[in-house]
Amino acid sequence: MTSATSLFSPVEADLRLLSENLIQLVGTRHPILSAAAEYLFGAGGKRVRPAIVLLMSRATMLDEDITPRHRRLAEITEMIHTASLVHDDVVDEAQMRRGVPTVHSLFDNRVAILAGDFLFGQAAWYLANLDNLEVVKLLSKVIMDLPTGEIQQGVTRFDTSITLEAYLEKSYYKTASLIANSSKAAGLLSDVSRETSEHLYNYGRHWGLAFQIVDDILDFTGSADTLGKPASSDLKSGNLTAPALFALEEKPYLEVLIERKFAQEGDLEQAIALIQDSQGIKRSRELAAHHAQLAVEHLADLPPSESRQALMNMTDYVLSRLY
Ligand code: IPE
Ligand code: IPE
Ligand code: MG
Ligand code: MG
Repeated sequence: MTSATSLFSPVEADLRLLSENLIQLVGTRHPILSAAAEYLFGAGGKRVRPAIVLLMSRATMLDEDITPRHRRLAEITEMIHTASLVHDDVVDEAQMRRGVPTVHSLFDNRVAILAGDFLFGQAAWYLANLDNLEVVKLLSKVIMDLPTGEIQQGVTRFDTSITLEAYLEKSYYKTASLIANSSKAAGLLSDVSRETSEHLYNYGRHWGLAFQIVDDILDFTGSADTLGKPASSDLKSGNLTAPALFALEEKPYLEVLIERKFAQEGDLEQAIALIQDSQGIKRSRELAAHHAQLAVEHLADLPPSESRQALMNMTDYVLSRLY
């Protein structure tokens, strides 16, 4: 597997600085919030979103260094992402994240909701201070899109009639919107043309969709140990992702099991076995590869550079997580 770290080499020093700043930015106004934040940012995470923002920034600022605003945008992006995970883990009742207990299981739901809100608020504050109205609009839309995706997912639990299009739309809101809009924002901070900014957006959109599809496959094929978070949890909670949706086309009995919410003993295991026995995982992998390929095509507009190459390699990295 391509390691995330070697991929990030053009922005390795930037990411180190970002990690130091993130803990500091959350501040020490309230001990419990800073404890939660310190713990979260300390636990790491792959930092793929800020890496993409920084690579986009470097790939669009070839003759000069990136600005403090580019750096701040990368920090804001990781803050928004982390806030959404803290809330997502409450919604999903997940006990583990980034290899350590989740905020709500370590503290409680109240602290997790407040810590997430605080991080969103903090991100909004730093965002406003970038003094760039268009960037503020892009990232505030993301903050609306995240719960939109979670709500769409929540209201369609165990609904076997959801289409692949609806699944992709939900995945855009939950995951791709942040990467798409922050990629575009990085370009705007570098004063790229309208046309280029749309390409950056579409790179992020397709990369984000590929990333979520792979995450959804890993929920079936990975282990809690390697993922640092619970595996096999989507289907159990009625979240029908690409592998299940493809499998439903081949295995009519899967629909019966899902519709009765795995009420009988052995239902869940049988459903997982039906999915494993179908083309579901393979077709999902192909769908992820398709979006990864589309992402690459949107880089053609950028001048060749080490950072552009790293952005291309990032699309192989998404798929390599499956092996
Ligand atoms: C998890 O994102 C949420 C999804 C969109 C699948 P990551 O897998 O990037 O989580 P961290 O930041 O590395 O923990
Ligand atoms: C992504 O969805 C969550 C957000 C982007 C908020 P998942 O529910 O699949 O993420 P994991 O699997 O818990 O990391
Ligand atoms: Mg989750
Ligand atoms: Mg998941």
